[in-house]
Amino acid sequence: MADSFDLIIIGSGPGGYVAAIRAAQLGMKVGVVEKWPTLGGTCLNIGCIPSKALLHASELFDEAKHGFKQLGIDIGEPKLNLTQMMAHKTETVASNVGGVDYLFKKNKITVLRGTGSIVGPGKVRVTPESGEPIQAEAKAIVIATGSVSANLPGIEIDEKRVVTSTGALTLDAVPEKLVVIGAGVIGLELGSVWSRLGAKVTVVEYLDRILPGMDSEVARQFQRMLAKQGMEFKLSSKVAGVDTSGAALQVWVEPAQGGEIEVLDADVALVAIGRKPFTEGLGLEEAGVALDERGRVRVDAHYKTSVEGIYAIGDVIAGPMLAHKAEDEGIAIAEILAGQAGHVNYGAMPAVVYTNPEVASVGKTEDELKAEGTEYKIGKFPFSANGRAKAMLASQGFVKILADVETDRVLGAHIIGKNAGEMIHELVTLMEFSGAAEDLARTTHAHPTLSEAVREAALSLGDGAIHI
Ligand code: FAD
Ligand code: NAI
Repeated sequence: MADSFDLIIIGSGPGGYVAAIRAAQLGMKVGVVEKWPTLGGTCLNIGCIPSKALLHASELFDEAKHGFKQLGIDIGEPKLNLTQMMAHKTETVASNVGGVDYLFKKNKITVLRGTGSIVGPGKVRVTPESGEPIQAEAKAIVIATGSVSANLPGIEIDEKRVVTSTGALTLDAVPEKLVVIGAGVIGLELGSVWSRLGAKVTVVEYLDRILPGMDSEVARQFQRMLAKQGMEFKLSSKVAGVDTSGAALQVWVEPAQGGEIEVLDADVALVAIGRKPFTEGLGLEEAGVALDERGRVRVDAHYKTSVEGIYAIGDVIAGPMLAHKAEDEGIAIAEILAGQAGHVNYGAMPAVVYTNPEVASVGKTEDELKAEGTEYKIGKFPFSANGRAKAMLASQGFVKILADVETDRVLGAHIIGKNAGEMIHELVTLMEFSGAAEDLARTTHAHPTLSEAVREAALSLGDGAIHI
């Protein structure tokens, strides 16, 4: 007898596990298929959570090294205990994935261990690592199988010396020289971790800028700050190959448009050129589920695929590959399946780079507003004029708010600075309510806080900021 559910979700990442919990809360009988030994997907096991554990620890290490003296704290030269730092990361992951186990039990969600494939309408085969496959049935199936690292042709990943983010999160020694291929979020976050711990980091980026998609003024300032921290950038460059035959890796770098090859020595090379949707072994072709030109599962506005009863959410469909985007789609699909009006506002979706300083954004960039011909005004305020930032030795960066010239409605916001990733949310909320810059400018902010810089940026869109 096949196990029978209202909903089967394939994949237990932020998309899948959140969909499962909300669906259970809404009264559905839910089964989640997961091929990994632990729940939580990329984000909890090999992504957001372990990277943030290492970013936090390495940031404090760096602060102890370079920031404490000025604050009157003499501790001598701090010593790195990488084994303990990695243990902290492992414990953080264990505690988070254990949290999902707990939530599944609490919500009576069944975990079906093994690789899931769709074998017919409403039918999923689950093949465990060992033992016989089982078949499960459901009224609806949600594909939430996420994404995997993209690779460069001809470059072999061994996760020891030539690594993706997964290997870069588990190195057992600080590389003397680390070459990062790709100046995107992963390259800059994990490049920062190892740079702070002592590696000489060189970032090779194909485009003429870092962090494509983020506001270009922010990206330029950010690059300067990272360079000051010791990171080297080779923009408009591509990696033509990595020679692994010698004791040191040789990374061949050539100008993006072709030209003379420069050879960089490295102990470790991190390939961070993006991620691709993961649909292998799901049986989508046989099931008739259509993909788009980039291999993502094609869905309509209600996450429905080309096949009745099969839906998809998260990294495996179009849109930013972000955990909170997957989570919100998880809630939306559960609500839609329960007959409610599930909805995600992609126009107010924050993005954060968890470096020091942090970079955070929501809504449109200046580049996008220019391209679409929208008339906008800019409100800007530097942290160097914020009292709390001075007290914290965190006066780098600024808040920039973009608002419609006529209506004053906030169209986008970009923050580079300490705790930018927390501060961005008042702008996300403002945008969610279609708020104007004046709404924010008239809102009392506690003093002294970094968030006052956000209000000051809004004030500067009206009669003027006070402290500048
Ligand atoms: P995933 O989390 O990828 O989960 C998919 C799950 O499906 C996996 O558990 C997989 O084992 C399972 N699966 C796949 N196929 C099958 C199958 N056939 N049968 C059974 N199980 C299957 N995003 C942020 O928002 N903030 C961050 O700070 C952040 N940091 C990141 C750091 C790194 C190093 C990386 C790599 C990513 C980071 N991300 C971050 C991105 C984030 O991890 C993803 O956007 C998010 O995990 C996507 O969730 P998902 O549920 O779509 O898929
Ligand atoms: P990315 O898309 O952010 O950046 C990839 C970079 O590599 C781009 O700058 C691109 O121009 C460059 N590139 C592509 N091909 C290249 C080549 N051949 N040579 C040199 N450079 C090349 O992808 P990344 O950093 O791998 O991250 C993948 C996903 O994971 C992102 O979509 C991101 O949203 C998510 N993520 C999110 C985090 C966060 O929210 N803080 C943290 C880490 C990952």
